[in-house]
Amino acid sequence: MKTLTDAAMRLAPLAVAALFVVATPAQDGPSLHDCMEGIKDNLKALSQSLEDDARQADSLKHVSLMQSYVMIGKELEPSNLYDMPEDQRHDHSMAYRSDMAKTLGALAEMEQHICAGDNASAMAAIRGQLLTLRNDSHDKYQVEDH
Ligand code: HEM
Repeated sequence: MKTLTDAAMRLAPLAVAALFVVATPAQDGPSLHDCMEGIKDNLKALSQSLEDDARQADSLKHVSLMQSYVMIGKELEPSNLYDMPEDQRHDHSMAYRSDMAKTLGALAEMEQHICAGDNASAMAAIRGQLLTLRNDSHDKYQVEDH
């Protein structure tokens, strides 16, 4: 079972790279919803791997996959873009992209904690900065009755 899991983990970056190839702003690749589900699943797995110092490689893999999903998601449109008046859409898209970039920055910082073996700081970043970014962004960019 471990071998299967390891093999899947090694293949995961390739799968994400393939997603990049098909992801286009016209949204005929993975949807933002798909990216968010990928972020959520890896965040859950990361929270578990951070509890075990011996699982540093798993933690690094999960944080990388989260970064990859954010990279894809930031190229897409915020879900509520067309609920905005037309003259506000550009600013709204830029705010969305900027918040995605902040998320990428938070994940890059988290990666540095994991590299340093400082899992406690990585966990604190999940509970603090990342949770705030998630909650604030969902308020701003999800459609209202979502
Ligand atoms: C970093 C932690 C994050 C996690 C774990 C997360 C997780 C999720 C999940 C699970 C959903 C699906 C919710 C549902 O349909 O019930 C979702 C939706 C969404 N998230 Fe995130 N998210 C995160 C950050 C962000 C950020 C930073 C943004 C924008 C800058 C964002 C924008 C959105 C949007 C627009 C949707 C709605 C997608 C749709 O229309 O289906 N999220 N997120």
